[in-house]
Amino acid sequence: MTPEGAPGFIIRPAAREDVPSVAAIESRVFVGGWSPVMFEMELEAGDGYFLVAETGGVIAGYVVYRLNPEEAWLLELAVSPEFRRKGLGRELLRRFISAARESGARQAILEVRTGSAPAISLYENAGFQRMGMRRNYYSATGEDAYVMGLNLVGQAAGVGG
Ligand SMILES: CC(C)(COP(=O)(O)OP(=O)(O)OC[C@H]1O[C@@H](n2cnc3c(N)ncnc32)[C@H](O)[C@@H]1OP(=O)(O)O)[C@@H](O)C(=O)NCCC(=O)NCCS
Repeated sequence: MTPEGAPGFIIRPAAREDVPSVAAIESRVFVGGWSPVMFEMELEAGDGYFLVAETGGVIAGYVVYRLNPEEAWLLELAVSPEFRRKGLGRELLRRFISAARESGARQAILEVRTGSAPAISLYENAGFQRMGMRRNYYSATGEDAYVMGLNLVGQAAGVGG
């Protein structure tokens, strides 16, 4: 599964052996992010909505999402600092949007730290719009979150195609 938008990376379902690498990226990138146990629980759910991007045997990024009948939720998306600006974040987001469309969800939704300018730009470029704000959403840091949504009904395929 070599993605068109991020050449050199293989995107595949995560396996148990990937959890330490994913958790290491998570702790570098987020204060108060997911613990290894939380990633293991996603694997145990067994729904295949936890993907990793690998290059040369190294985990470079990951995405975790949930598909509900009406709404698809992006739970986690991160790219390791040394692999950024190569199109991988956009490709992982595209995988989520594509799965959300295929599932028949009407809307894709996510929460993002209000100070995460790169992530906000990524989501806005993919067509997400700000729907609201949750104050002090991230308990470890007290940061606020924007809730962003993408309407999946009656839209051209675009980035999520
Ligand atoms: C946000 C993140 C996933 C982007 O990953 P990436 O692989 O570097 O992104 P891409 O190379 O695919 O870039 C896609 C778009 O993201 C935005 N972007 C990425 N890095 C950016 C930066 N440093 N400044 C501004 N915009 C940026 C741009 O819109 C970019 O499109 P462009 O190249 O046409 O300008 C990555 O920076 C990251 O892991 N950040 C920390 C974790 C995080 O905030 N995750 C989101 C949680 S909700």
